[in-house]
Amino acid sequence: MPGVVVVGSQWGDEGKGKITDYLSSKADVVVRYQGGNNAGHTIEFNNQKYALRLVPSGIFSGNPVVLGNGMVINPKALLEEIKYLNDANINTSKILISDRAHVILPYHLEIDALQEKYRGDKNIGTTKKGIGPTYVDKYARIGIRMGEFVNEELFKERLAEVLPLKKREYPELDFSVEGIFEEYKEYAKIIKPMVCDTALVLDEAFENKKNILFEGAQGTMLDIDYGTYPYVTSSHPGANGVCEGAGVGPVMIDEAIGIVKAYTTRVGSGAFPTEIEGEIANTIREVGREYGTVTKRPRRIGWFDAVVVNQSRRMSGLTGISLMLLDVLTGVEELSICTAYTLDGKVIHALPSTISELDRVQPVLETMPGWSEDITTVTSFAELPENCKKYLHRIEELIKCPIVMFSVGPDRTQTIVLKEVF
Ligand code: GDP
Ligand code: IMO
Ligand code: MG
Repeated sequence: MPGVVVVGSQWGDEGKGKITDYLSSKADVVVRYQGGNNAGHTIEFNNQKYALRLVPSGIFSGNPVVLGNGMVINPKALLEEIKYLNDANINTSKILISDRAHVILPYHLEIDALQEKYRGDKNIGTTKKGIGPTYVDKYARIGIRMGEFVNEELFKERLAEVLPLKKREYPELDFSVEGIFEEYKEYAKIIKPMVCDTALVLDEAFENKKNILFEGAQGTMLDIDYGTYPYVTSSHPGANGVCEGAGVGPVMIDEAIGIVKAYTTRVGSGAFPTEIEGEIANTIREVGREYGTVTKRPRRIGWFDAVVVNQSRRMSGLTGISLMLLDVLTGVEELSICTAYTLDGKVIHALPSTISELDRVQPVLETMPGWSEDITTVTSFAELPENCKKYLHRIEELIKCPIVMFSVGPDRTQTIVLKEVF
């Protein structure tokens, strides 16, 4: 009865949605445990493409999906997403939402935008979905949780307590309790039947030896503690976030699968040691369709960075990785891999903690010849071109973790499994 977690192992957008969907055929329940609609997870099958932000990518399996207590949920965005799925004839009747998850309200979005504005050229480049400000309220103990939100009286009472505090902090806010309440109580009515103590549901699944799949959002370099702080998100995207964000114990996690791009991308500001610009970067961006699912921003492009993935392996205790978007590198004549950094002339093998050091690190790169053969239809490791095999072997060696799956295209069928995880 394994519990498997799918972990973004770089700066997000590694293909977590694709792999979660793929693995969900063997999972009895799929759980998101952190983040909110800052995520954009893409799933493709039967010539259809879906983009999910809040609903776990296991929704297409027909099994229950859980939005865990560690998430921050914008009710309006959730209902829009449910409508989008229903319009595509996808059944959403098995969505469960934790009564402890925090609710994103309009003032959180406004505060997100204000903070970004006041940071000026030091802005984080957030998705402006109110994620950080909602987590701030959670930890300041002035958040409103789903359990309160779906109880009209409690919701109004809590809003009347909290909104004046936020307005004192941000006098620019132009919201009234009545205004928010009248609009959002309608959303709460629709959401109410989905809200429960989801930790009990997971405990029962565990007792009954069911397969549980946890779906991370963002990536470990955006982790609030171990990411490139302060240019991070406000949660724990790695396996380290599962226990607190799903209400389960560590014994429920048997496998942690790092989702890793065959190169690196980042959206938003902050250090990016292997970043490249110019022709190769532009080609990778176009071939890999590297534009944000949520904000449509062009993603920054860089070489594969083993220091980053090693940090993810340590933080999440990765038991394997799924190497994604390998096909995008076809045709790149010479590939570089970052094996370490230098900081002020000294070789280092882990990310330093301060942004000023991060801005100064230089990647130590080694090069390998690329391949030109089309690999989008391969169905086994053996069919890969020799140089591609060497690239995979070198990555495994550097990150000290086996490649258990790899991906050669966006479609569900373009997934090659080397070792079953369920
Ligand atoms: P997530 O946030 O980790 O779920 O990743 P995104 O969905 O934001 O970004 C990954 C993008 O790569 C999506 O457009 C996927 O459809 C696409 N994708 C996933 N795997 C592959 C692959 O192996 N090859 C190609 N070409 N695209 C892929
Ligand atoms: P998925 O799940 C890539 C980035 C933002 C910004 C920083 C903080 O699709 O991989 P936030 O709105 O969270 O306060 O923004 O984090 N970011 C992501 N980058 N993929 C994501 O999600 C991201 N979610 C947030 O661009 O740099
Ligand atoms: Mg994404």
